[in-house]
Amino acid sequence: MASRTAISCGIARRLSSGYGFATRSMSSWWTDVEPAAKDPILGVTEAFLADTHPDKVNVGVGAYRDDDGKPVVLECVREAERRIAGSENMEYLPMGGSVKMVDETLKLAYGENSEFIKEKRIAAVQALSGTGACRLFAEFQKRFQPDSQIYIPIPTWSNHHNIWRDAQVPQRTFHYYHAETRGLDFASLMDDVKNAPNGSFFMLHACAHNPTGVDPTEEQWREISYQFKVKNHFAFFDMAYQGFASGDPERDAKAIRIFLEDGHLIGCAQSYAKNMGLYGQRVGCLSILCEDELQAVAVKSQLQQIARPMYSNPPVHGALVVSTILSDPTLKNLWLKEVKGMADRIIGMRTKLRENLENLGSPLPWEHVTKQIGMFCYSGMTPEQVDRLTNEYHIYMTRNGRISMAGVTTGNVGYLAKAIHEVTKSS
Ligand code: LMR
Repeated sequence: MASRTAISCGIARRLSSGYGFATRSMSSWWTDVEPAAKDPILGVTEAFLADTHPDKVNVGVGAYRDDDGKPVVLECVREAERRIAGSENMEYLPMGGSVKMVDETLKLAYGENSEFIKEKRIAAVQALSGTGACRLFAEFQKRFQPDSQIYIPIPTWSNHHNIWRDAQVPQRTFHYYHAETRGLDFASLMDDVKNAPNGSFFMLHACAHNPTGVDPTEEQWREISYQFKVKNHFAFFDMAYQGFASGDPERDAKAIRIFLEDGHLIGCAQSYAKNMGLYGQRVGCLSILCEDELQAVAVKSQLQQIARPMYSNPPVHGALVVSTILSDPTLKNLWLKEVKGMADRIIGMRTKLRENLENLGSPLPWEHVTKQIGMFCYSGMTPEQVDRLTNEYHIYMTRNGRISMAGVTTGNVGYLAKAIHEVTKSS
């Protein structure tokens, strides 16, 4: 019998000796494939990396940097890694991921003493960070509510649109941001909630809205929750920034807690990318609050079945880091301190950016820089102004005018403010 190597050598010879048909038919498979559009967020990082200018600044992607502009690994994470090094095998996790990590993660969203956790009414699985959690939910929604649509705020994180599009769930939008006040368009939001067909699905940012940095007040959340009850809408919370809004993960879960108090059966995506700095570890959680334990068991089994052909089971390392930190009171306290430290540095940079712009004599109002919360400042700059920042000053950010405040440092804030002033002063 001919060996596999001999066969493949023969094929290679035939292809290289001018059997045009083989070359043509192989290359014709993909001739209709056009290059994909650049991702509006990750494409900015690619462009930044390709720039060789010494003063370049990246305030595009939402990834925390220290005051020297360097990526940060939290001390609690380093300590957890020291503790787990060599202690575990590399076996598969179950399809639903690490039970210990999921249990700890639910406490952050639903509360340490949540009755729903005690009653085992939450169907929850480890997910590939917040994106993976949203994607799993979108697939689940399509499978079990095939005629439903998803209402998404305008604006939102650009990938939300991709996620529900790929799951083939039709998208509707609801008002959120008021461009003139650079705050919440609460009246229009409420109108959209009231006018949506009863029993609609809404995707809500639990805190530190991306990209605007504008959140409803506690009172407004109560009104939203009340109206959701009246309309029997389903609230799916994407909580990618727990801890980044106020510096306190418990306070940042307020919107979710209000909905729980009001008796909603919610869904929730959680991520440790930002608040534990575990970006590349892809660790998060999807949870769905059910009517009872029996329903939760069924829902969880279906979520696992959706995960199985997509990626089989989630990765181990990040989950182990998270569960090690959250199950140890000392490490958890260290984490809480470090989250607050990150949030505070960003708040400090907001003040500095605004001060710099005002000291330069900018004719525009910049209060929103300090009013907005979380990782992002929705500056109000136009795509053309952003293009000028990039082309003339080597400052990289998304074309919707979003500044990742996590990338602003004592060293670059003056340069950033000057450049913003130059491109906006005559508008
Ligand atoms: C962002 O909005 O910059 C982050 O959530 C990163 C991402 O994946 O888009």
